[in-house]
Amino acid sequence: MNIHIAVVVYLRQNSRRTLLKLHTINILFCIILVLSACKPGPEKQNDNIHATANTKDGHSYANPDEITVKHSHLDLLIDFERRILKGSVRHDLTRKNSHNSKLLLDCRQLKIDSILDDQGSRLTFKIGEEKEYFGSPLTIDLKSSSNAVIIYYETSPKSEALQWLTPEQTHDKKHPFLFSQSQSILARTWIPCQDSPGNKFTYSAKVTIDRDLMVLMSAINDTALHRNRTYYFKQPKPVSTYLMAIAAGNLEFRNTGRNSGVYAEPGQIKAAAWEFESMQAMIDSAEDLYGPYRWGRYDVLVLPPSFPFGGMENPCLTFATPTIIAGDRSLVSLIAHELAHSWSGNLVTNQTWNDFWLNEGFTVYFEQRIMEKIYGSGYEGMLTVLGLGELKLTLADFEDENQPEETHLYLNLEGRNPDDGLTDVAYEKGRFFLRHIEQSVGRMKFDAFLKAYFNEHAFKPMNTIRFLDYLDQHLIKGDPVLAEKINAKAWIYGPGIPQSATLPISEELNKAADQAVRFQKGTPAKELNTRGWTTHHWLHFLRNLKPEMEVVRLKELDAAFGFTRSGNSEILCDWFKHTISSHYTPAQGALEQFLLRVGRRKFLTPLYARLSKNPEDLKWARAVFEKARPGYHSVTVNTIEEMLYKKGF
Ligand code: BES
Ligand code: ZN
Repeated sequence: MNIHIAVVVYLRQNSRRTLLKLHTINILFCIILVLSACKPGPEKQNDNIHATANTKDGHSYANPDEITVKHSHLDLLIDFERRILKGSVRHDLTRKNSHNSKLLLDCRQLKIDSILDDQGSRLTFKIGEEKEYFGSPLTIDLKSSSNAVIIYYETSPKSEALQWLTPEQTHDKKHPFLFSQSQSILARTWIPCQDSPGNKFTYSAKVTIDRDLMVLMSAINDTALHRNRTYYFKQPKPVSTYLMAIAAGNLEFRNTGRNSGVYAEPGQIKAAAWEFESMQAMIDSAEDLYGPYRWGRYDVLVLPPSFPFGGMENPCLTFATPTIIAGDRSLVSLIAHELAHSWSGNLVTNQTWNDFWLNEGFTVYFEQRIMEKIYGSGYEGMLTVLGLGELKLTLADFEDENQPEETHLYLNLEGRNPDDGLTDVAYEKGRFFLRHIEQSVGRMKFDAFLKAYFNEHAFKPMNTIRFLDYLDQHLIKGDPVLAEKINAKAWIYGPGIPQSATLPISEELNKAADQAVRFQKGTPAKELNTRGWTTHHWLHFLRNLKPEMEVVRLKELDAAFGFTRSGNSEILCDWFKHTISSHYTPAQGALEQFLLRVGRRKFLTPLYARLSKNPEDLKWARAVFEKARPGYHSVTVNTIEEMLYKKGF
């Protein structure tokens, strides 16, 4: 049964539904079996969860309630030769309780050399046992006079946050490249720190590098190459550790507006600047909606294609996959998404990973509003309907697997990888919940509410219970009819999409769905009416085709629309899902190239999952994976390796 579930999970995986691991599924299934025998009614169960919802971070050893890091200063050397970062971090401390002399930090895959305090005294420390995902607690014995610790350390070449790329893995193929990915709990693999999203601190850094490459951080950057190979950074606004980021490469900068710009390799900078032309308009729209952008500059760094995500909202400097450079600006909603995190996430931050929906659900809603403002409600409607389609598949999967609690917005991820929460539930159900509140109170009221929410909680953590209280006090205000209408607890502590939600429709996408029906009823591909279609029509069309078709029909589609040769990564990915399931071999070469070139997990997971379905494809997939593995980021390697080799496959 578990094997069956695992296969279903991987096969129907879509965008953000990527991380359920096999053993997690095993454990969960057993728990469900036990619980289902003595399950209380849904009402009672919900109240119970609410009452006991944990606000302590179950994914960190740190003790920030007693001793808080208020500022960190990094002094690091980027050593491409050894593929390590080496140097020190100084943490300035606020000690709430003078009796407590033990500072607890998170660390993993780090070599700690020595630790001093601000008085120059050598401090004793202990590195505890390593635990899966977590790493080890680093316990430092403070003196009563210690107000800061300076930790001398180096990373391992295997540090999971860091990816060291050879020149061949970059766009221009001339220079090596380094980038980090700290979310969710990987900051501890390159900085010993209180690695919990609820802690905020300012930071500064001095970074030297062993060659002539530009270094950037999630901070105020200057846009030039420094011939002396030394860079200084300042992040004067408090941030959480998962937003710590660094990158180094042969980069150029182009302005895209007043306070926005793009960094990319020289061979890609022109295309990137063209693609992201609307960035300044996005910032202006976002400010109109929910108040000032508080981070100074908003720049985007285009990474090599191995970047495991679409985008990462590192403050001041979003990291982005080059797979959104489609040549027609059709995938730029991802930039609106990462920009929106400058409010939802970076300003008001999920206190623990259980509250992840507060980051992502708010951000998808905000992204939708930015896109609507710039491109109109027809365009926004297409994005929202596509999102709903993904959500429905995810909900159906969890239902099939008998795991309805995975579809609650509030999750209890203790004892699990926090990245298990990275599913369409947090993103899309979160968005539809906020959309539902908007529709219940009216847009004017809801916008005023959100603007005040961001203002009042700026630079502070937020959790689900405090959000509910804030909603009660500032929007519902004791009105029982409105409370009933919004029904927040059903959304947050209950499964699926509550019945009262009004779901979106898109006339435009209906046209694409109609053509999919016509095709399936036998109309030849070249007779379909696809005039004026955009990327989103094509995606909807492909998603509305049956998962298995006759090879001749795929051939017909390919001849008419050239899918295999598409330069659009989203379209390619949806097309390859069909070519794998239907064994359309003419696309195999292009598929292999795609799997070798792109490391974005959202694309790779569903493709490898489909390939794992039969022994012959699996054999081929393993061979491709082994070739591609050195080029994938560890986040991607871990996910795909599990799929192709672990139990059941
Ligand atoms: N912060 C996320 C990426 C993330 C989440 C990384 C959790 C690690 C753990 C980022 O904002 C994101 O959501 N990226 C999406 C793109 C977006 C348009 C939905 C992605 O990478 O696909
Ligand atoms: Zn996001």
